[in-house]
Amino acid sequence: MAALHVVILLSLICICRSDDRLTPAKPLSAGDKLVSSNGVFALGFFSPTNSTVGSYVGIWYNNIPKRTYVWVANRDKPITNASSGKLVVTNNSDLVLSDSQGRTLWTTMNNFTTGATGTSAVLLDSGNFVIRLPNSTDIWQSFHYPTDTILPGMQLPLSTDDDLYTRLVAWRGPDDPATSDYSMGGDSSSDLQVVIWNGTRPYWRRAAWDGALVTALYQSSTGFIMTQTTVDIGGKFYLTFTVSDGSPSTRLILHYTGMFQFLAWNSTSSSWNVFIERPNPSCDRYAYCGPFGYCDATETVPKCNCLSGFEPDGVNFSQGCRRKEELTCGGGDSFSTLSGMKTPDKFVYVRNRSFDQCEAECRNNCACTAYAFSNMKNGSTSSDQARCLIWLGKLVDTGKFRDGSGENLYLRLASSTVDRESNVLKIALPVIASILILACISLAWICKSRGKLRIKETKNKYTGQLSKNSKSNELENETIELPYICFEDVVTATDNFSDYNMLGKGGFGKVYKKVAMKLLSKGLVRVLGKGLTSSEMEWF
Ligand SMILES: *[C@@H]1O[C@H](CO)[C@@H](O)[C@H](O)[C@H]1NC(C)=O
Ligand SMILES: *[C@@H]1O[C@H](CO)[C@@H](O)[C@H](O)[C@H]1NC(C)=O
Ligand SMILES: *[C@@H]1O[C@H](CO)[C@@H](O)[C@H](O)[C@H]1NC(C)=O
Ligand SMILES: *[C@@H]1O[C@H](CO)[C@@H](O)[C@H](O)[C@H]1NC(C)=O
Ligand SMILES: *[C@@H]1O[C@H](CO)[C@@H](O)[C@H](O)[C@H]1NC(C)=O
Ligand SMILES: *[C@@H]1O[C@H](CO)[C@@H](O)[C@H](O)[C@H]1NC(C)=O
Ligand SMILES: *[C@@H]1O[C@H](CO)[C@@H](O)[C@H](O)[C@H]1NC(C)=O
Ligand SMILES: *[C@@H]1O[C@H](CO)[C@@H](O)[C@H](O)[C@H]1NC(C)=O
Ligand SMILES: *[C@@H]1O[C@H](CO)[C@@H](O)[C@H](O)[C@H]1NC(C)=O
Ligand SMILES: *[C@@H]1O[C@H](CO)[C@@H](O)[C@H](O)[C@H]1NC(C)=O
Repeated sequence: MAALHVVILLSLICICRSDDRLTPAKPLSAGDKLVSSNGVFALGFFSPTNSTVGSYVGIWYNNIPKRTYVWVANRDKPITNASSGKLVVTNNSDLVLSDSQGRTLWTTMNNFTTGATGTSAVLLDSGNFVIRLPNSTDIWQSFHYPTDTILPGMQLPLSTDDDLYTRLVAWRGPDDPATSDYSMGGDSSSDLQVVIWNGTRPYWRRAAWDGALVTALYQSSTGFIMTQTTVDIGGKFYLTFTVSDGSPSTRLILHYTGMFQFLAWNSTSSSWNVFIERPNPSCDRYAYCGPFGYCDATETVPKCNCLSGFEPDGVNFSQGCRRKEELTCGGGDSFSTLSGMKTPDKFVYVRNRSFDQCEAECRNNCACTAYAFSNMKNGSTSSDQARCLIWLGKLVDTGKFRDGSGENLYLRLASSTVDRESNVLKIALPVIASILILACISLAWICKSRGKLRIKETKNKYTGQLSKNSKSNELENETIELPYICFEDVVTATDNFSDYNMLGKGGFGKVYKKVAMKLLSKGLVRVLGKGLTSSEMEWF
């Protein structure tokens, strides 16, 4: 009878001992690994190729021949004796990594002492490693403690004032997972921006969020669709991305050089294709064009220019630009509308203002040099939806996007300057209008016929040249598919989004409906042909 009990007990233990999880009775030792049930991710001990430092516990792609790590537990405390590490999930529902001397190198600190026997640590299909209570509640997840990688379904907060979700921190070198000086995350001074820092200095900045909920990216040759979504969780905003079912492995990293990259695995070439990289090589680095200068991506090769009403202050843009005519404050000033702009940094976020109130806010303050407004409708569950930004003093890190994204920046200038600029506009406007009408007609036609119009791409701009597998001379005169698809196509395709790419089904489902609305209101989604270039701002 006792023997029978033992057998039953043993077989129960065996069932629990599937290899995607740890239990208090089954720690992980050097040489062992966990594999997610879909076989995509593995967790175990590793030593980077040329590392002499020691070994680490990490998560990598199990099905990709080129070893690629997406998460590291003890990045700053390697195990010096590679054969001695042990990762345990304790009866207190904590993960503890220790060496042979019993020193703790890394641990979660849940201190969950309510006798939760049956706790396990599970490597999920998404690559998320979670501590799971017997009642299926997850009390800790690696997705909340990223290293340098964001996987589909992970969330990057636009604000970092809670310690739950921390910044991405780059590896120190190709073989050294230790934390480096490059980090990336929400800018807690504004709650609206994502910034890459080099130490404490900004290295690159994403424009202030304008309320757009979704941006989709589509590659017609492979059917690959990726959406970037801004989700509202308890009044806080998080960026997240998903890919369509059957897509290649896709990840987003802060490279050890400080570059932020979007990569997709190419199984044909057995390498990672970089299809978006920030900062762009040109003038995209933080404040590169100086005060009142801006990085103009509408140029074939993006370069610094002065904002209208300004002229270079010196031989190049290292000192930025100066006003042609001083402001008078009061009646003598007007606002000039600059469209398609990446809004500058160092704004003051004024809450609860209408557009007119926002303008008044700027007009009535002699120190105010510009303002921008977005109503952020449906972007937030909070009642305060409008976003009024005003700038006091110099405008730094401004840009102009080439593809029609970006927002209006209302720049304060002496009225006489504005008059002169608007004379130029009077000539330019009819030309712009006819181009717009033509564009609308073509778009409507494309949507209707859903045909795949082929256009000649004269020059693939710099984003394309960054693709590791593309040579810039090949891209000249190459035929690509017209980079637009119709809304219905996106909806059809997004129905196929796999579950495991979504974190928290309920919450995401709701957001997803909003996403559809947003798409509908735009009618068309900007999507991309070969090489996957993209909107400068809307993507990270
Ligand atoms: C490791 O070091 C060797 C020799 O120093 C070098 O040839 C090789 O490229 C390095 N591997 C990696 C992945 O850096
Ligand atoms: C490394 O750990 C193994 C197993 O615990 C032990 O036998 C060995 O002596 C250790 N080596 C060193 C240098 O501490
Ligand atoms: C965890 O709890 C089980 C059952 O209560 C016990 O047998 C085991 O020794 C405990 N493990 C540790 C490390 O305390
Ligand atoms: C868990 O306990 C440790 C030490 O006792 C403490 O430093 C840590 O803050 C506690 N963690 C939580 C989440 O309470
Ligand atoms: C699961 O169990 C923990 C502790 O026993 C408890 O705090 C939590 O509320 C439970 N969750 C659910 C969904 O029952
Ligand atoms: C980051 O800062 C360090 C020192 O402050 C500097 O040497 C390095 O060039 C910077 N990196 C980049 C990419 O600008
Ligand atoms: C994958 O790589 C091959 C060979 O370099 C290339 O021909 C192909 O276009 C790439 N696929 C994608 C989707 O980029
Ligand atoms: C701008 O000019 C200054 C002085 O002439 C020079 O030191 C600096 O390197 C130049 N910067 C660029 C980006 O050309
Ligand atoms: C927002 O502004 C309106 C009037 O402009 C005012 O009635 C309302 O109380 C304000 N709401 C908040 C939350 O400040
Ligand atoms: C915002 O929500 C309202 C109703 O909740 C809806 O009528 C409107 O179309 C939505 N606007 C956008 C841009 O999605």
